[in-house]
Amino acid sequence: MGGYEPVLLSNVGLEGSRTLAVYCARGGYQAARRAVTSMSPQQVVDLVKASDLRGRGGAGFRVGVKWGLLPPGREITYLCVNFDESEPGTFNNRYLVDHDPHQLLEGIVIAAHATQARTAYVYLRAEFCETFHVLQRAVDEAYAAGLLGKGLFGTSMSLDCHIHRGAGAYVCGEETGLIESLEGKRGWPRIKPPYPAASGAFGRPTVVNNVESLCCVVHIVARGSGWFRSLGPPGSSGPKLYTVSGPVNRPGCYEAPLGLSVRELVFGDAYARGMIGNRKVKGVIPGGLSVGILSADELDCRLDFDDPQRYGLLGLGTAGAIVINEDTDMRDVLVNVARFYARESCGQCTQCREQTDWLHKIARRIAAGAGRIEDLDLMESLTRTMGMMEGQSICGLPDGANYAIRTLVSKYRAEFERHIQAQRPGSVEETLSGNNRSVYRLPVLAQEAANRKW
Ligand SMILES: Cc1cc2nc3c(=O)[nH]c(=O)nc-3n(C[C@H](O)[C@H](O)[C@H](O)COP(=O)(O)O)c2cc1C
Ligand code: SF4
Repeated sequence: MGGYEPVLLSNVGLEGSRTLAVYCARGGYQAARRAVTSMSPQQVVDLVKASDLRGRGGAGFRVGVKWGLLPPGREITYLCVNFDESEPGTFNNRYLVDHDPHQLLEGIVIAAHATQARTAYVYLRAEFCETFHVLQRAVDEAYAAGLLGKGLFGTSMSLDCHIHRGAGAYVCGEETGLIESLEGKRGWPRIKPPYPAASGAFGRPTVVNNVESLCCVVHIVARGSGWFRSLGPPGSSGPKLYTVSGPVNRPGCYEAPLGLSVRELVFGDAYARGMIGNRKVKGVIPGGLSVGILSADELDCRLDFDDPQRYGLLGLGTAGAIVINEDTDMRDVLVNVARFYARESCGQCTQCREQTDWLHKIARRIAAGAGRIEDLDLMESLTRTMGMMEGQSICGLPDGANYAIRTLVSKYRAEFERHIQAQRPGSVEETLSGNNRSVYRLPVLAQEAANRKW
């Protein structure tokens, strides 16, 4: 992807990039002005449809199509910006807003015009304290400059924008969990239908979009749908932010068109520049945890909306890559991953609540040195019987658990088997309780149990 000029990150690194003055000096809010003053809402929807922009929040739903699903003749519409960004390994939304908050606000103005929303809520991940202040300052500046509030760009359009801080639950990134939480209720996903477009926040038609999706909209209005479609492979149009963390030389957030290979992201000079100390890659979780893992010989996988599936992954996800080196014990990875889903399950669906918990218990048994070969088969079979895709649950959290755990177990099975076969004698029984829901007997090696931090 050599020679590519960043668009989403074009203001990053400039002095004062968070300020309205710098943003406007670089052409900021011109796209919003054009959309609001010279395009009808339907024209903006059609333009975004023509760009083939697919949502950057994980599911890849087409943004223009989603906007087109709002019922005609509605009185009130809400725009919810999904800035929960709790997917492990993912920080592209935060990076964008930390450096260039007005880009998001401009995207919000355009999306509100297209959907005829007069109130926008930015649902912000609880832990993003600094980001909250950055964004709030930008909102205040926009109000003071008449870019939010009443009579935008001399038209009759009004728009209010509120930042709503979450309380730290992964499942509140799921759009209906987000809406419940926004309404002040316990943040757990709703049964669908109705989808938010028909009945979302406060029972009104609602659009939920990711931060990066809305930033892309700014550039579609500014540069046209043809420009957007010219980037990336067919079906995966436009620029994308990729984040990289782990033992690489240059972790960070990078921009390239969709379709960048994982190898280039990890080793390319413009990206992470290889492994610290030249250690070997053992695996890469390329799209946020929930898409699953690529083994060391699968790094040619392209990060677009189609290629990851050829490697047994759930999809592109968030394009937040976690790199794992040869020194890592995959039993520790397995425990970490399983613990995450067990803790984050909101508990309303039996399969999700119970099976994520059991997967965590089995992973701990293996890590503690008392696993059985049949545990690997048991884990695989448990992962295959839960999730929205299996028709067993309300939301997609257990689908993420499924792909994350199943690909780990299947791609590193030989390593798990080696550990299991090497460790039988000396295991002891220990009583553990999982989330206070059940108490069970778990055989563990006493020394392992003493050393490991779960
Ligand atoms: C468990 C779970 C967590 C999610 N977390 C996020 C998130 O943090 N941010 C996000 O944009 N989408 C997240 N999503 C996807 C949202 O439900 C929704 O598809 C997305 O916000 C739509 O925006 P987009 O079409 O612009 O991508 C999550 C989905 C699930 C099932
Ligand atoms: S699938 Fe899991 S996280 Fe999603 S609603 Fe059901 S119990 Fe909650």
